Amino acid sequence: MLRARIAGIGMYVPKNVVTNNDLARVMDTSDEWIQERTGIKERRYATPFEDTTTTMGVEAARVAMERAGVAANDIDFIIFSTISPDYYFPGCGVLAQRALGITEIGALDIRNQCSGFIYALSVADQFIKTGMYKNILLMASETHSYGLDFSNRGRNVSVIFGDGAGAVVLQPIISDGSPGSASRGILSTHLHSDGSQAEILSMINPGFHVGKFVPEKKPAKPDQPYGGLFITKELLEKEDIYPFMDGQSVFKKAIVKFPEVILEALKANNLQVSDINLVIPHQANLRISQMMQHQLKLRNDQVYNNIQKYGNTTAASIPIALCEAWENGKVKDNDLICLAAFGSGFTWASALMRW
Ligand code: ACO
Repeated sequence: MLRARIAGIGMYVPKNVVTNNDLARVMDTSDEWIQERTGIKERRYATPFEDTTTTMGVEAARVAMERAGVAANDIDFIIFSTISPDYYFPGCGVLAQRALGITEIGALDIRNQCSGFIYALSVADQFIKTGMYKNILLMASETHSYGLDFSNRGRNVSVIFGDGAGAVVLQPIISDGSPGSASRGILSTHLHSDGSQAEILSMINPGFHVGKFVPEKKPAKPDQPYGGLFITKELLEKEDIYPFMDGQSVFKKAIVKFPEVILEALKANNLQVSDINLVIPHQANLRISQMMQHQLKLRNDQVYNNIQKYGNTTAASIPIALCEAWENGKVKDNDLICLAAFGSGFTWASALMRW
């Protein structure tokens, strides 16, 4: 049977390094508070008029394509995962397609927040397994810094997030298909969601809800019956346009779902925690990763974290961490690699692969 494997991986982070002390100059925060609560020391911010979510995704894609040995005209499908797209529409998939000079293949946009890369990987995996595509380019990229609240009101959120991109090229390999077999490629993916607390980690505007779903945020009745309901004066005055996070509720849910979805992946493949060479968790918060590591009794060398340098880059965090781990020689041929994510929605997911 066909299996998908990562044939090439790349990353791009903007050159602009922003330390915790830099943030302390614009809001009431401190290096100590941020490091103690999140593990983050610095993050990268996109350079205005130079970096966008698309351009960063494309930079990462060029590296991944070169490492996979494929040219633009070899790519037969594009998937782009982001929650911070260049435009409200069209999505970054077609913008990246244009920038790479690729014509008329399909381009799909995915917006599953922190789980976006694994959701995208799972979609690509299905297309490869069925034989539909042979070279899928998957990009995950975020430009959070253009849309965060850098006043004291938004400091619990803004100190966490950073900008960057990762990309992979997926290709088919032949496998004997038996669960837990030594053959390489993606062994399984596991996707979950629970919308019952959707607003706990959200950016609800600009949205077309107007008075629905979040009754306590119902805007004043508009003056006119049609139009103008999207970005109202009141919306801007209330500054209700930034990400919101109930951090403690997110923390409580994340530390349950991370281990759960990793164990689910292992069970589906008749494998044990001790079989894992490296877990690459979504870089949400170092404390969340450490809790997951503790619960699963994983050794330090079995978990890769780089949130210290890049902050939380949402969909891009897993491919950035995976790329960096691979570049540092921590991901080797035939290693068992487990990707795991949890984030807004809530959505959570895992992918198990033999590198
Ligand atoms: N600097 C200094 N003080 C701050 C900051 C800041 N950046 N942010 C908030 N505070 C203050 C608050 O105002 C509050 O002050 P008060 O006690 O005088 O009212 C105090 O710190 C505690 O505020 P909390 O919001 O309760 O902060 P908490 O201790 O919960 O820490 C944090 C916030 C780090 C977000 C924590 O809740 C957490 O780790 N949550 C996990 C969620 C997470 O990390 N999400 C990542 C993104 S989502 C994802 O990727 C899945």
